Amino acid sequence: MCGIVGGVTNKDITSLLLEGLNRLEYRGYDSSGLIVLSKNNTFNRARSVGKVQNLEDNLKARDHKIEGNIGIAHTRWATHGEPSISNAHPHISKNSVSLVHNGIIENYIDLKNNQLKKGYSFSSDTDTEVIAHAIDFAMKSCSTLIASVQLAIKSFTGSYGLGIISSKYPDQIVATRKGSPLVIGVGKNANYIASDQMALLSVTKEFIFLEEGDIAEIKIDKITIYDSEGNLVNRKIITSQLKEGQVDLGNYDHFMQKEIFEQPQAVRDTLESRITNDSVVISAFGYKAEKIFSEIKQVQIIACGTSYNAGIVAKYWLEDIAKITCNVEVASEYRYRRPILLNGTLFITLSQSGETADTVEALKTAKKINSDISTLCITNSAESSLTRLSDLTFLTHAGPEIGVASTKAFTTQLVALALLACSIGKLKKSINKKQEKGIVDGLKRLPGLINEALLQETQIKKLSTRFKNKNSALFLGRGTMHAIAMEGALKLKEISYIHAEAYPAGELKHGPIALIDENMPVIAIAPNDELLGKLKSNLHEVKSRGSQMIVFEDENSKVESMDAMEVIPITSNLGRITAPIIFTIPLQLLSYHVALIKKTDVDKPRNLAKSVTVE
Ligand code: M6R
Repeated sequence: MCGIVGGVTNKDITSLLLEGLNRLEYRGYDSSGLIVLSKNNTFNRARSVGKVQNLEDNLKARDHKIEGNIGIAHTRWATHGEPSISNAHPHISKNSVSLVHNGIIENYIDLKNNQLKKGYSFSSDTDTEVIAHAIDFAMKSCSTLIASVQLAIKSFTGSYGLGIISSKYPDQIVATRKGSPLVIGVGKNANYIASDQMALLSVTKEFIFLEEGDIAEIKIDKITIYDSEGNLVNRKIITSQLKEGQVDLGNYDHFMQKEIFEQPQAVRDTLESRITNDSVVISAFGYKAEKIFSEIKQVQIIACGTSYNAGIVAKYWLEDIAKITCNVEVASEYRYRRPILLNGTLFITLSQSGETADTVEALKTAKKINSDISTLCITNSAESSLTRLSDLTFLTHAGPEIGVASTKAFTTQLVALALLACSIGKLKKSINKKQEKGIVDGLKRLPGLINEALLQETQIKKLSTRFKNKNSALFLGRGTMHAIAMEGALKLKEISYIHAEAYPAGELKHGPIALIDENMPVIAIAPNDELLGKLKSNLHEVKSRGSQMIVFEDENSKVESMDAMEVIPITSNLGRITAPIIFTIPLQLLSYHVALIKKTDVDKPRNLAKSVTVE
């Protein structure tokens, strides 16, 4: 969601704040702002609506430069209050406290009413301004900034990652988190904060990941951290493995495009040390994995968006390969149900970011319902809330994913899930050595197969012109391809703003076929599997209603081309593991090229944020 960056240094901090904001823009981008304490300890703030570029222009257009050694900055994804300058962060209370916030203060209306009675006035519609006033009020009875923040946060219900500065304490930033991510960057003659380590990679690789409820006082040469109980604690400094170049565009026009083409390498990296010549390495899921997997009786997968679609594919694999019951549910529903969680459940969360609020809360809910379950998270983010809360972690090594539309995170999640199905199947003896080797061989072929699928880009680009004036599209698939159709529809919706739906092809005749006419393009996926014959009949049903169709097929599927139907062979000899991963590629390329034709903001589609860390 929102992005936070800040620092205390012996140099001017403004350019670092802007650079950090640019790197964080993928998290939210309806407004941005920064504030710096100038030499005479007064606040100097700039805020703009829209992209970070607007903030940069705003700063350039000023007569007086904003300069100082300590400052905080923010990119906003609106939750409370429209995108506007007055709602943009940082917020200020009485020229004494300023802060940036990621999260939601749920009881802000009660707090606001109380603060109005105390004489505080409000200049925004946000839930954040109450935090600034609460800290300012606490400063009247506390002798340090950190003590004031400790006192103020006691009154908040909700989630927060906060960076706070005060004109009365010009040598420090106070940072605290609960339910929202926040890291401290450890520098030379400088220390920093950010909601995501990527914001700080140009200045440091050393990070302290604050734990839930931690609060830190950050000075140029000293970092002091207390836990949620107020005890002084020592948190480890971790050296980030991320490379700075990984978050640059290189020769590509968009991050989404770059990330689509990075998939062969991302899959290779995710497989590295997780397979041997002919078997899966079960301990890749953690040293306790073998014991846990041997004992489980059923699987519950929880995720949102693209990660949920990966979960649906996994259900087919886990039931087919590991012969274990698997349920999949979106986190925002699960967390508010009263689900039954039997002993022997492996509770799996899937999340690129590891920070999606609904997924994190669903995991916490599950642990409350049955503390005996085992938990596994599959994530692309090593130091995330999900990894901290789970018994087992499997890291997809996709590298940073910046484009809001998830691409390489999805295919690497599928790789992880295939390894999981194979590991459980092996331990439960539902597959033999030969079958395990077959799966491993398929996984090894993936980078090459993805490269082959990427070669279809020119043809897919041509087809994308068909969507120029279309408002809807239907995606069809059977079995795991229904989940891939869901993923294709989600991609098209989010970056080209075309309404798209996915249906299991056999379900068409129960309603959606009524939608089909020449204005409704239908995209179908035709692997060469046991359902091919049935899918071909479904394609005839669609064709006879006049639809323009695009069929992505396995070369051996030999789908007969008809009028206004384009059949595109993607590659051949795909199996039950490789097919869903490979057929994802043409759908990603299609949505990317349609978005270019529709001239949308591919990497930052409207209304969306990369990581949804609020409810
Ligand atoms: O970080 P997560 O995988 O938990 O994120 C879940 C969804 O918010 C995410 O997949 C979203 O649907 C993407 N924008 C899809 O491209």
